[in-house]
Amino acid sequence: MRRTLIVGNWKMNKTASEAATFVRELEKRLPASSSVELVVAPPFTALESVRAALGPSSPIQLSAQNLFWEDHGAYTGEVSAPMLKDLGCRYVILGHSERRTLFGERDDGIHKKIRAALTHGLRPILCVGESLAQRESGKTDGVLTQQLRGSLAELAPQAMAAIAIAYEPVWAIGTGKAATRDQAVDAHRVIREFLASTWSPDTANAMRIVYGGSVTPQNIGSLLKSDQIDGALVGGACLELDSFARIASDAASIGV
Ligand code: PGA
Repeated sequence: MRRTLIVGNWKMNKTASEAATFVRELEKRLPASSSVELVVAPPFTALESVRAALGPSSPIQLSAQNLFWEDHGAYTGEVSAPMLKDLGCRYVILGHSERRTLFGERDDGIHKKIRAALTHGLRPILCVGESLAQRESGKTDGVLTQQLRGSLAELAPQAMAAIAIAYEPVWAIGTGKAATRDQAVDAHRVIREFLASTWSPDTANAMRIVYGGSVTPQNIGSLLKSDQIDGALVGGACLELDSFARIASDAASIGV
């Protein structure tokens, strides 16, 4: 049984003090107990204040939005896996489409980042997804498998167990135009079949594949009804208390 994973990707939003206030409020609105694993991914500058606001026994886990693959050294502006681990991060989002398109990230670099995360006990949330042009020209399956192959190449099966995949069609991110459940399910099947044939069916069945792209309180219930969809990576709708708390409680009530 795969535990539902709901991740709020704050992107470049909220100062450290806004972030602390937000998560304190968020905690109050969550169901008392939930089978869902809830994660917030604030910007680097707010990780410390969020950790302090949540305290050690919080049900909310912390994620970073990126890292650099070296542990330390002359890499101005970069942040490493040991630094994030020390701040209490459990997860790190890697290969987000905004990193790929705005900052030129490629699968080989994402692969190095995944290895660095795993070495230091961080769980990667690897984002993959096709553009609208790729979908319309029938290339979705090929794009997904190419991104997976390039960024996960030759990882040991035990390493794979720590990784979650986020299927995020680029055309659905921040557009208000989420994939339909059928579109998401088709893509999740392609991803799981690739994982099964490259590693093993057991490895593939143990891994969580979440959907991202215009997830809202209105569509989360429908998405999670499929047993192929193990959770969500939420952008815009995670920045408002009401909508993120509703997504978290709807996910919990579905009890996947
Ligand atoms: P969105 O972003 O929910 O605003 O579409 C999702 C993401 O980029 O992870």
